[in-house]
Order: sequence, then structure tokens, then C-alpha cells
Amino acid sequence: MIIFKKTSLLKNYLSGLRGRGRIGFVPTMGALHQGHLQLVARSLQESDLTLCSIFVNPTQFNDPQDFKKYPISIESDIEMLEKQGCDILFLPSVEEIYPSGTGGGLHYELGELEQILEGKFRPGHFQGVSRVVDILVSTVEPDHLYLGQKDYQQCMVIRKMLELTGKDTRLIICETVREKDGLAMSSRNRRLGEPDREKAVGIYHSLLFAQENLREGSLEELKKRALGMLEAEGFRPDYFELAHARTLQILSHWNGEDPVVAIVAAFLGEVRLIDNMILNSSVPIN
Ligand code: PAJ
Repeated sequence: MIIFKKTSLLKNYLSGLRGRGRIGFVPTMGALHQGHLQLVARSLQESDLTLCSIFVNPTQFNDPQDFKKYPISIESDIEMLEKQGCDILFLPSVEEIYPSGTGGGLHYELGELEQILEGKFRPGHFQGVSRVVDILVSTVEPDHLYLGQKDYQQCMVIRKMLELTGKDTRLIICETVREKDGLAMSSRNRRLGEPDREKAVGIYHSLLFAQENLREGSLEELKKRALGMLEAEGFRPDYFELAHARTLQILSHWNGEDPVVAIVAAFLGEVRLIDNMILNSSVPIN
């Protein structure tokens, strides 16, 4: 695996390869686990060259403490990527990505998408995500961009950013990789102490509950019961919502046909977990 730290050197290297095959790109913030590696594996299957980036992006953290506490495990990350067969790792510094500083930047017209759900609780977060992925995709110019369904709203936001900026990159959304008990893998799980780690699976159970109980008509009672379940298990939920799986429009009624995604964010102690599930799962999201 070749490691690049400089944008100019990476661009130079890639320009020599253009037109010779498909490039697959997996952006990450490191602290890698099987969820990330699955994206790399899928890219390896479908592309001629697979590039992964590790960059803890300061502009997407609305809470500076969260940024400071973000787990870093670069040596084991490199080892995992090498084992997996990743071709290139891009490991830039903050100055390399934001040579004119982290302030300012383009404003992306994300509309409603950045005001609901995560957007409501993490103001500015999706502008930061759009900005960094725009910069990374402009550098790499991949044919395929691999993202995890785990961050459902992020997938929708990046799809919109790609559209707004007219990029020629195809977005491929890969399903959420879970621990044996069903907890979605996340770098943040490392911060859960033992009793909380056991409780954490409750967030997955709330999604299964919604899946089992989805009925045509009003959805308010179902949302309330799922929130109640989470609270009874010691979570402090930010939201539990049911939304149209394509538009992410929040639904208060279900017509029995539209694809529905249940989407949840909740604190367990100091750790904020998010998860989602498409409830009528025959519908593909790509
Ligand atoms: P990060 O949280 O490191 O995630 C990188 C990619 O891995 C994202 O597309 C995320 O959805 C995916 N991922 C994480 N956990 C997963 C799981 N359990 N199953 C499947 N995919 C999973 O998301 C980010 O970084 C950043 O916001 C980024 C897009 C890199 C921009 O900074």
C-alpha cells in the first residue's frame, strides 16, 4: 500500500493512472473496524484501484470535545488496510486539506436535508461533511464512492453534494455491519464501558421493534413506543423518527407502500450512538 500525505503528490500519481481502470474511493476518519473494511473490500471487488483516506475532519464536529476525543489508531489502521489489500492510503494533515484555514468555505444548498434529524442536533455538521468530501472527491476523482448505510442521512447529503457540484462519481451505499448482538459497528463504541456496551444493543432492538410493528396509518404511536423503549433501557434519545427512505421526509402517516427508514440517535452515558433500518427491506437504497 502506498501512503500519500500530500495532495499534490497523490494527484500527480493518480494522473499517471487515469483512463487505465476504475478508481474506488473510501473516505474515513480512521479508528477502522469491519464496517470500514467492508467498504474497502467492496471497492476492491469492483475497482482496479482502491484508495482509502483517513482524515479526522475538524469542520464537521459541532462539539470541539467530540473532535478532541475522537479515537486515533493510525498504526493498526494501516495494518488493517494493508491486510485487506487496499492500494493507496491518503493521510493528509488539516493544513493540507484546508490550506486557507477551516473557516469560510462554500455553502452547499442542502435544503431541508441539513435541518432535520442529525442536522437539527448537530448544526453545521453536514456543511462540514459536504465540504471535506467535496475536497477529497475533487482530489481523487473516483469512479465510485463507497459509503456506509450506517450514516444514512450522510449518504443522502453526499448524494446531494455530488449532484450540486456536478461530479461524475457514482455513489455506492453498502449495508451496515453489525456486531454479533446487532449493535452497529462504530468507532464510538470503543468509548462504551462494559455495562453500557451490553445495553447499547437496545438501539438496534428499537429498530427491530419498529420493523415488526409498522402498519398503514398513523405512525405517531409507534414512534412514541420506540422512544419509550429506549428511555426505559437507560438511553437519552435525541430522536427516533420514521422517514421516507428516499427523500428522508419525516412521515407521520404511512400509506402502506412508500419505503420507510427508521432512524435513531441516542446517548448512552456520554456516548452518542446512531443507527437506522429500512423497515420494508425489499427496497434497495442505491
Ligand atoms: P467514518 O465515521 O470513519 O465512516 C467512514 C465510512 O464508513 C462512512 O461511509 C460510514 O458510513 C462507514 N461506516 C461506519 N460504520 C459502519 C458500519 N458499521 N457499517 C457500514 N459502514 C460503516 O463518516 C465519516 O467517517 C465521515 O463523516 C466522512 C464521510 C469520512 C467525512 O469526513
